[in-house]
Amino acid sequence: MIRIGVMGLGMMGVTHLDAYAKRNDCIVAAVSDKLPERLHGQQKAAGNVDGQAQGSFDLSMTRKYTEGMDLINDPDLDVIDICLPTHLHIDYALATLNSGKHLLIEKPLARTYADAKRLADAADKARGIAMTAMCLRFWPGWTHLKDAVANQTYGKCLAVHFRRMASHPGGGFYSNGDLSGGAALDLHIHDTDFAHYLFGVPKSVYTAAYSVVTNQPDHLVTHYRYETGPMVTAEGSWCMSAGFPFKMQFTANFERASLIYDFPGDNPLTLVENGKATPVPLEAGMGYDHEIGYFLNCVQSARRPERVTMQQAADTIRIVEAEVRSGRSGQIAVL
Ligand SMILES: NC(=O)c1ccc[n+]([C@@H]2O[C@H](COP(=O)([O-])OP(=O)(O)OC[C@H]3O[C@@H](n4cnc5c(N)ncnc54)[C@H](O)[C@@H]3O)[C@@H](O)[C@H]2O)c1
Repeated sequence: MIRIGVMGLGMMGVTHLDAYAKRNDCIVAAVSDKLPERLHGQQKAAGNVDGQAQGSFDLSMTRKYTEGMDLINDPDLDVIDICLPTHLHIDYALATLNSGKHLLIEKPLARTYADAKRLADAADKARGIAMTAMCLRFWPGWTHLKDAVANQTYGKCLAVHFRRMASHPGGGFYSNGDLSGGAALDLHIHDTDFAHYLFGVPKSVYTAAYSVVTNQPDHLVTHYRYETGPMVTAEGSWCMSAGFPFKMQFTANFERASLIYDFPGDNPLTLVENGKATPVPLEAGMGYDHEIGYFLNCVQSARRPERVTMQQAADTIRIVEAEVRSGRSGQIAVL
């Protein structure tokens, strides 16, 4: 039984607690939040995804700390799961790696590439296993796109466009670009990371962006430019009008077919082939459930994660930082 400590019981901490509650190979033995009222774990949070952060976890039997470092020092834990605001990731993640415990950490790995690279290098030398929670790499429908590109199921991939649109989550560190990194680092990073996962680090990026909520890009459109390879673009925003329904979409074009993913929806993935549009059956569960299952399997089998590595998570931040530079200068940014 893997003993987990979850740090930060906001939207993502509660989402992770729900995922652990569905499993029988682990126990959440301790939690930490600087707000004592959150330590009961029953709060529901307003996530973008329906069914997320339901507060289904019973925390009555867990040890509780108001300071994250006390959780790391708890000797009866195997895993520290960090769901803190982004700017706090670096200190708590380094302390976890130094403790020898295993680390699961929410994306983005850190607020800056420099910090993310320090963490990735420390993780390479650490005794414990470390993984960044890049949930899209585990999300039903998105895994179909990855397989289709890698296996050329429908021929070569010619183009992919990603789109992730939301209103601002509001308040806390999200309203401060120095802490959150704006929509570029917080929201749009999912699509930057997926383009990276599919096609590698681009040679350059060209971004249009504007800011209205934070001092960082709050709405951006990027063209990822590769030496050879498909046309890849992504749009991300968290500054749509209040009440704008969250959208997570991609359109992928291959030599012999097209894929459309449109979430939320009952059948989000459609295959268009030979003049027919057919819904593609998908695995049940959200990316969060699959990512946590994968991570726990890695811990159980003492295997470093390959689906997403810490170095890749750091490189994704390097790409986002190039997008921010390009959006500010109006010039192509080279990686
Ligand atoms: N994977 C995804 O799809 C996804 C979605 C949203 C957010 N995130 C990421 O998850 C992270 C957390 O986001 P969130 O929306 O849950 O934030 P949040 O503000 O809702 O929750 C953060 C929690 O951490 C607590 N906290 C702050 N400092 C602490 C400390 N020193 N010790 C213990 N607890 C402390 C706060 O009280 C709060 O309850 C961010 O990095 C964010 O970018 C990921």
